[in-house]
Amino acid sequence: MHMQRLTLDKFTSFCKTRGFVYPSSEIYGGLGGIYDYGHYGYLLKENIKNAWIKSMIQDRDDVTLLDSAIFMHPKTWIASGHVDSFDDPMVDCKHCKLRYRADHLLEEFGIKIDDKASIDEINAELDALRHAGNLKCPNCDSKELTSARRFSLMVKSNLGSTVDKLNDEDVVYLRPETCGGIYLEYKNVVETLHPKFPFGIAQVGKAFRNEIVARQFIYRTREFEQMEMQYFHHPDDTKQKYEEWKQFRWNWYLEYGIPENKLQWYKHEKLAHYATDAYDIKYKFDSLDGFAEVEGIHARGNWDLSQHSKYSGIKLDFFDPERNEKFIPHIMETSAGLNRLLMMFLDNAYHEQEILTTDNEGSGKKDTRILLRLDPRLSPVKIAILPLMKKQVLIRKAKEIFNNLKKLYICEYDESGSIGKRYRRQDEIGTPYCITVDYQTLEDNTTTVRDRDSMNQERIHVNELKVYFAEKIL
Ligand code: GAP
Repeated sequence: MHMQRLTLDKFTSFCKTRGFVYPSSEIYGGLGGIYDYGHYGYLLKENIKNAWIKSMIQDRDDVTLLDSAIFMHPKTWIASGHVDSFDDPMVDCKHCKLRYRADHLLEEFGIKIDDKASIDEINAELDALRHAGNLKCPNCDSKELTSARRFSLMVKSNLGSTVDKLNDEDVVYLRPETCGGIYLEYKNVVETLHPKFPFGIAQVGKAFRNEIVARQFIYRTREFEQMEMQYFHHPDDTKQKYEEWKQFRWNWYLEYGIPENKLQWYKHEKLAHYATDAYDIKYKFDSLDGFAEVEGIHARGNWDLSQHSKYSGIKLDFFDPERNEKFIPHIMETSAGLNRLLMMFLDNAYHEQEILTTDNEGSGKKDTRILLRLDPRLSPVKIAILPLMKKQVLIRKAKEIFNNLKKLYICEYDESGSIGKRYRRQDEIGTPYCITVDYQTLEDNTTTVRDRDSMNQERIHVNELKVYFAEKIL
């Protein structure tokens, strides 16, 4: 059970001290909205990614993979509408110079506005607050706030041999979403893999957005990873496919241990320029004190392929032999943020538990145990192997077991400190099983296997360990 709410500060500090997530460039004072992933963060992120890929590729037979480049021809983002209209409304405080996303600023005054609201609608709300004398900077209380204006989220870079001769030809964008590469490779995939229609293309990779404020730890960052799947289908099938994909993605969260009562659907009333229908899956973050979006499921119509066909002059239609019909496929998109999902899984797994321990004099005392109740498939380390005491005979046996199991699983060997402290350390990084080698092991070749969540221990023969874990860690 949580003993108290997991505040964002506490969560951020936990992620840093346990080697999951570090603020980037810290020795230079940090770089807003950018984070690095430590050993355990990296492993957890890989496991989430693999769980997503497994569900898309191994559990189905109609989706293929792609790894497209981050840089794409600049026309990509003109065709997609991003250069013209991928922006957020921004308000500046003239006094303390802090910058706000206007919709977030309005939320501070209890006004909820759809994130696709027009700039005029936003300014009308801001003006109403201003005229009532209520609009002030949440940081310094100044009433000198600018009107909202559009701020492009596109991150620019340049390519070319002559850096000092920067012109429009050299300007390239770091992709703001990974799906762009999928549309550009659609033709190659069709011509080389000949997928049976309807089919999907999935990819995981970095995306970059010039977010105005990136204040909620790794929830909203300027560099992040997306896991996106674009499903190419006939327009007549949109309704059915939309429901199927909504259900498919919802079930994935349940399968990996997110309780259904912490999930919610949110239907967008105002849609992005490309979308014909859009729902978000929201998760109830303890660390953000409420529900927030983790994934979008969008019906994108044939906007993307039509636009890229128009701007490139290349036909991107599809001949479906079963229908005997040529058409531009419509697209169903599932789009999840990998870093955001990592935050969600950690937020959901974090538990504090009051337990009774025995001190050196043998009397009981109350203590708090922190544990990450991660699904074992997601846990960064699967098994820790611990000699009960730092004695050569126990160390030798424990290392022998460690060397065998590490061929199959990410394992840790630890001989430092009391056994209680070592268990606690593994609980905090979410290791589901600890094997302890004691004197009985030397006599009958059995070990104790301790379960992270229940703290129950059972004796398992060393020769049975592989079979035992094969059933526990799928
Ligand atoms: N291709 C559609 C698309 O990119 P989106 O709603 O802008 O749609 C999809 O983004 C998902 O990507 C979000 O639900 C979120 O999980 C993640 N995401 C978007 N912006 C992010 C940011 N600045 N930091 C972290 N994750 C982000």
